Amino acid sequence: MCGIVGYIGQQDSKEILLKGLEKLEYRGYDSAGIAVINDNGVRVFKEKGRIAVLRQIVDQTEQAPVGIGHTRWATHGVPSQVNAHPHQSTSGRFTLVHNGVIENYSIIHREYLQDVELKSETDTEIIVQVIEKFISEGLEIEEAFRKTLTILKGSYALALLDSKDKETIYIAKNKSPLLIGLGDNFNVVASDAMAMLQVTDQYVELMDKEMVILKQHSVTIKNLEGTVIERNPYTAELDASDIEKGTYPHYMLKEIDEQPAVIRKIIQKYQSDDNQLVIDQDILYAMNAADRIYIVAAGTSYHAGLVGKEYIEKMAKIPVEVHVASEFSYNMPLLSEKPLFIFISQSGETADSRGVLVQIKELGYKALTITNVQGSTLSREADYTLLLHAGPEIAVASTKAYTAQIAVLSILAAVTAEAKGLGLDFDLVRELGIVANGMEVLRDAKEEMERIALEYLATTRNCFFIGRAIDFYVGLEGALKLKEISYIQAEGFAGGELKHGTIALIENGTPIIALATQERVNLGIRGNVKEVVARGANPCIISMKGLETEEDRYVLPSVNEMLTPLLSVIPLQLISYYAALHRDCDVDKPRNLAKSVTVE
Ligand code: F6R
Repeated sequence: MCGIVGYIGQQDSKEILLKGLEKLEYRGYDSAGIAVINDNGVRVFKEKGRIAVLRQIVDQTEQAPVGIGHTRWATHGVPSQVNAHPHQSTSGRFTLVHNGVIENYSIIHREYLQDVELKSETDTEIIVQVIEKFISEGLEIEEAFRKTLTILKGSYALALLDSKDKETIYIAKNKSPLLIGLGDNFNVVASDAMAMLQVTDQYVELMDKEMVILKQHSVTIKNLEGTVIERNPYTAELDASDIEKGTYPHYMLKEIDEQPAVIRKIIQKYQSDDNQLVIDQDILYAMNAADRIYIVAAGTSYHAGLVGKEYIEKMAKIPVEVHVASEFSYNMPLLSEKPLFIFISQSGETADSRGVLVQIKELGYKALTITNVQGSTLSREADYTLLLHAGPEIAVASTKAYTAQIAVLSILAAVTAEAKGLGLDFDLVRELGIVANGMEVLRDAKEEMERIALEYLATTRNCFFIGRAIDFYVGLEGALKLKEISYIQAEGFAGGELKHGTIALIENGTPIIALATQERVNLGIRGNVKEVVARGANPCIISMKGLETEEDRYVLPSVNEMLTPLLSVIPLQLISYYAALHRDCDVDKPRNLAKSVTVE
């Protein structure tokens, strides 16, 4: 949430910052701003709305080789020009961008800034004002910056300009992601390597509670005690084409289409030279040592966790609980004697999940993170990591990361089962290959999915997704996809549960999307469909080959029953996409949302 960029070098920084912010817009798009510095001083341009709006107000006449920028997802204070970053101290000497949440901002205000008139409602302004306060008390800038960091509680990624020194950007990080990028005759800072791939693929990781003095030709990393830290750069393994839309109208459609390739890549990444599926021995040991597994995740990743529970329990015979991260911290269940925690997170930055990770590490438990982002906070702080290899997911609505999570969980379960000597009655590599082929078939079903979206969802105000067993979990994900991008009120239900209350909401024409991919509950779900049809609902049944009947609207290619979520979610993703499109919604950047949810 919120994205930061900064550039210090010889070129004009404005276009580099704007392009960088465009790549970070997935992190929030309530407002955007840049501040640049040259011999004439600091200039700030900021506006409510997207980067496109900011572009229109940036004065391009003067060159400025140093600058910082920000795209915001509002936490403290409404989205507005005044609350947009960068924020300045009263004298205008200091200019700051911030990603994160300062938990003790009102205490700092009370203790240090009673006499300062604040312009905005943000926690960020407190930081820049307190730096100025410490300067007024006689500290040098580096000391004032460090002292400020020591009193901040919460999360921050910061970039600060001092108008009296146009050769330095002061940077700091705690809990919010931030990287330094290295170039010839310039250096950059960014929340995500993606933002600065336009100028460099060489990055240096920052750890929590570190600060950086960034100059055109030097990067000095220090801890808060002032000790200099040496760290080698790494090459960001991102392809520019991974982060472009190409010929697609939206990232979401591109990412839906990438799913067969992602499944094939996962198979390849988790296969040994002799074509066996392999998982790190330490992870297998931890899985086998656990008497219960606790999966902790949020949103779509939580839905993938529900499917993962099925796999681990059925294949590896280890009991699993799945928990919503934001609840777990405050409402921790009675834990088993030898628990293992699995965190599932596309971004690896979700604050709710991280909160739990910190808590359970304090209790001395082991954790495995399944994530798409190598080096992300959840990956670094867990004992073990399994990567999704899905490539950057840029659309706010998660699609390919969900299927990648399920595929990786299936491999984890299968390899654990094998290590325990529990035979599987199918060859997972072969079955995942069949799934990837089935996904290819769905790439060609877009017109049909668009027709379904128009027929069922063009004007409706609500929609229900039903399924039984594993289909229920996919229904939950289908409902989340639909509501988050089309704003249609959508809920997922276990087929048998509707009659216990929710059926009261069924009216003439209410769309019901029913999944029927599981043989053992096929009759059951069809019975549930009849119950709602009798009350006027408009059913759209998506079934699987071999289980279909004449009333079905779409029949999926046949795949292994356990792996159907990988396939059955795709029509739901596509239907949501087309429903949003025809309702004129911003598919890739739905209102009120951001991709990387780094606030609790
Ligand atoms: C929905 C979506 C969110 C995320 C959730 C967790 O499409 O993307 O529900 O799944 O915010 O994010 P990660 O997986 O990054 O922890």
